[in-house]
Amino acid sequence: MEQQHLRDFNSTGFQIDLVNWFLENQRDLPWRESKDAYRVWVSEIMLQQTRVETVIPYYQAFMREFPTAEALAEAEEDRILKAWEGLGYYSRVRNLQTAVREVVEKYNGVVPDTREEISTLKGVGPYTAGAILSIAYGKPEPAVDGNVMRVLSRIFIIEEDIAKPATRKIFEKILYELVSKENPSAFNQGLMELGALICTPTSPGCLLCPVREHCRANQKGVQAELPIKSKKKKQTSKQMAAVVVRNEKNEVLIEKRPETGLLARLWQVPNIETNIGDNQEEILSKMMLEDFDVSIKVGGQIQQVEHVFSHLIWNINVYEAVVTGKASAETATRKWVKTSEIEQYAFQSHIRRLSNSLS
Ligand code: ADE
Repeated sequence: MEQQHLRDFNSTGFQIDLVNWFLENQRDLPWRESKDAYRVWVSEIMLQQTRVETVIPYYQAFMREFPTAEALAEAEEDRILKAWEGLGYYSRVRNLQTAVREVVEKYNGVVPDTREEISTLKGVGPYTAGAILSIAYGKPEPAVDGNVMRVLSRIFIIEEDIAKPATRKIFEKILYELVSKENPSAFNQGLMELGALICTPTSPGCLLCPVREHCRANQKGVQAELPIKSKKKKQTSKQMAAVVVRNEKNEVLIEKRPETGLLARLWQVPNIETNIGDNQEEILSKMMLEDFDVSIKVGGQIQQVEHVFSHLIWNINVYEAVVTGKASAETATRKWVKTSEIEQYAFQSHIRRLSNSLS
């Protein structure tokens, strides 16, 4: 059934203009050097929620360390967390490893090339499935993320709320018909590239746009009003206190976060949630004694850091302290480390910055 949005739309002309523009103007990005499905997959997972410029060095280092699905499948979790350190949303890399292990065990190391199979892999949603299938395997499959929704909402004047999960399906239906059957890879990447370089969220560069003559929003001058996107709930804010405790050997106490939840299994310095008006020094001393069996003397605040998650903000006051009695024992999840060795542990990014300033 033909999509109503595609009635009176020059689909062939649109495909040609978009694909040709992409082939001539695409950015030189490291994941575009190979069509290897594993490499495409890693890049797409990194690019979720993270900017291209940030991803580039991580992608290059990751590929040096884990060049194949087998290499990633065999890697220790601590190493992959370390390689992901600073990119955030760490469940992405854990799911990636789980899924890659399945590919190695069940599919002989070859990433499946059907939507049905690839979608069963952990962390591979409709967008990632479409991106891998089109870019690595040349399949005419839609790959709809926020950027693509923005571009298409303008081309076709679609006024559905793109913050609602159900809206993505509207765009997928259009794309099943509209995607170039000759070059699905360049077509899908062309939509992404257009969203990144020209059809940007504010003040889109319509004068330079290769598909301007196909764009209904441009014809009506309403491109700045699209897409429609409802505001998400405001982040809640939490007060936290953290402490850098040193023993007599000048080692720092670090601990591994719990198995599940936010930033699971990353390393951190001891910390605790507090309320406004609390005496954080006192609370930290008490926590160290009760939970870590160590008496400390807090020297003072050394830093204030803010860590922003999608749904939550941590405002953390960081204190320094020294051990006054016997230092607490090490366990699998608690260690005393020299600042020169801290590099080897995967930390949440603000603690990394902190440890850098201490070493
Ligand atoms: N954003 C998501 N996927 C991308 C890709 N393959 N190239 C550039 N930006 C992207």
